[in-house]
Amino acid sequence: MCSATSRVILPEPPQELKSLSEELTDLIRKKIHQCGPISFSDYMEMALYEPGMGYYSAGLQKFGEGGDFVTAPQLGDVFARCLAKQIEQIGDELDHYEIIEAGAGSGVLAADLLKALQDSHAPTHYRILERSAHLRQVQRETLARNVPQWMDRISWLEQPPEAGWQGVLVANEVLDALAVERFHCAGKDIKQLRVANGRDGFAWQQADCPEAMRDRVEIVLAGLQDPPADGYQSEINTLLPAWLQTVTASLEKGTALFLDYGYPRHEYYLPQRFNGTLICHYRHRAHDDPFVWPGLTDISASVDFTALAEAAHGCGLEVSGYTSQMMFLLGCGLEGVISSFQSLPERDRVVKNIEVRKLTLPGEMGERFQVMALSRGLSENLGENLCGFAPSDLRHRL
Ligand SMILES: C[S@@+](CC[C@H](N)C(=O)[O-])C[C@H]1O[C@@H](n2cnc3c(N)ncnc32)[C@H](O)[C@@H]1O
Repeated sequence: MCSATSRVILPEPPQELKSLSEELTDLIRKKIHQCGPISFSDYMEMALYEPGMGYYSAGLQKFGEGGDFVTAPQLGDVFARCLAKQIEQIGDELDHYEIIEAGAGSGVLAADLLKALQDSHAPTHYRILERSAHLRQVQRETLARNVPQWMDRISWLEQPPEAGWQGVLVANEVLDALAVERFHCAGKDIKQLRVANGRDGFAWQQADCPEAMRDRVEIVLAGLQDPPADGYQSEINTLLPAWLQTVTASLEKGTALFLDYGYPRHEYYLPQRFNGTLICHYRHRAHDDPFVWPGLTDISASVDFTALAEAAHGCGLEVSGYTSQMMFLLGCGLEGVISSFQSLPERDRVVKNIEVRKLTLPGEMGERFQVMALSRGLSENLGENLCGFAPSDLRHRL
């Protein structure tokens, strides 16, 4: 058994939050006690989604300044105004279209998209696929406050729709929140990293890799230029193909847009990323120890966009675009959005310019965040000319 990564120093949570985390910790410890060390995906699933106690299921504030992290739509409406341009272009090819947003967080992207979409390009329905009951309620309140006139077109889904639909699926920072597996390269052997009960908290334990996971890791590693060094550790999302199949199965015509932080595979598994890409957030502090305050800490892993493209092919979807967030926003008319700031009072203009910088600068969200469009049934002309991907097509890097 090896110990957890070095403990980080974080602000002490208030007692009632500590008690909530301890309750979840006890539950996970009991599970491990009964079944033996659990896979990291089981641990991550419980830490994020255990009913009433997991990070996304308990009623705590997660987003924005008073929460743990800020996402692009939380910064302001620039992201949504640009994304609306891409949605309009796709919607215009369909006689009527819907938007389905997966993992809508606080609901602010939905509200800003609906405000930005001109009446003539408006979707017939805006449906939100959200697994957290608490966040569904937060989203309802955000939308009722901001776009009351749209409420009769908005609904919530607990499962992806079964009946065929056409339009755009939007998922911003959702793939990074799906539970992943962790592996460890021991010479030529691949071990699964499991979560065990340690003396003072959870601890990593190496175990024989389940066959299906080993096969997937071997395929991924075999395609890399440099074989990973002994002791190299990283993540793999074994659930991604099945998840993508479920959420896109009933999309008859349209595009799924995934926006997230990640890399093409050859960058994801770079030798220098020897401990993987796992990142945890607590009160705007980022660290890499997923065992700290389970339930109070967000846990996420970067997205392997090559894996997403492979999963898309398996679902019969075309990869119709892949680029950085900065280039995507430029292709979606960012310059026009910036010109509209001219009419604002100076203070507001400064704030909007800071927002644009955060969205686009390479050291902020501009390059680490990437966008992929997966389409089905679009005309070739549109599928190959989506405006967000016109300035830069990075599909060759996958
Ligand atoms: C990091 S937050 C991003 C929220 C929002 N999209 C934003 O950009 O602010 C992840 C969101 O995905 C949701 N989520 C995670 N897994 C999901 C799944 N399998 N289906 C639907 N929603 C999911 C979470 O509950 C949460 O709303």
